[in-house]
Amino acid sequence: MKEAAGRAAVDALARSGMKLGLGTGSTAIFAVRRVGELMAQGALRDISAFATSLQTEMECEKLGIPFFPLNSGRLSGSLDLTIDGADEVDALGRLVKGGGGALLVEKLAAYNSGAYAIAVDESKLVQALGLRFPVPVEVAPCARLAVARAIEGLGARAVLREALRKAGPVITENGNLILDALFDAPADPAAMEAALNLIPGVMENGFFARKPATVFVGRSNGAVDTLDFLR
Ligand code: A5P
Repeated sequence: MKEAAGRAAVDALARSGMKLGLGTGSTAIFAVRRVGELMAQGALRDISAFATSLQTEMECEKLGIPFFPLNSGRLSGSLDLTIDGADEVDALGRLVKGGGGALLVEKLAAYNSGAYAIAVDESKLVQALGLRFPVPVEVAPCARLAVARAIEGLGARAVLREALRKAGPVITENGNLILDALFDAPADPAAMEAALNLIPGVMENGFFARKPATVFVGRSNGAVDTLDFLR
């Protein structure tokens, strides 16, 4: 399902000459591989990619996809299209992202892209965001307890993300910590996205409520549905 959705997003929207944001995670990686495949066939040319994480950078290296910093002259801080995965998608196309810890750079790519495509398997579709999958909040290390208290004031339980196969917490690629916030009741995603980012010490949060996306949903029967939330 993930592979079908990732490939479908690239086939539908990626074009030669684009400045292309490439997302992170086990679904987005299939989109990256499809870009590499089309480039190798010569069907996609002159791609300038932006990789949203080390995982994606390394896949680009492997596939020969040229990637550049967002601040480079080549990209000048903006992209034509970004293709990424998501942890949750609600009925209005709003997202929770950051299960892989790349939310800050993923949001930079999303909000600075002309077009935005999300590839998911059908298990990611939910009625309300943040009740099942916690919303990641990237936090400066010195603000850990203060931000956790402020998040609790907004109606969520904040849990420090612990590393696997390393003692202590996850350190993001930007040198920060992640607090995973599980909400008790449905929140207004756009209002909560703004409220979380107003807490001193918060670098970014995993609500992506202000960027309309085209969502490619891989179904268990092999089909891919396209949901357009271009509001
Ligand atoms: C990475 O930080 C995330 O935003 C991913 O895009 C998201 O967690 C979805 O990942 P999977 O496709 O691996 O479920």
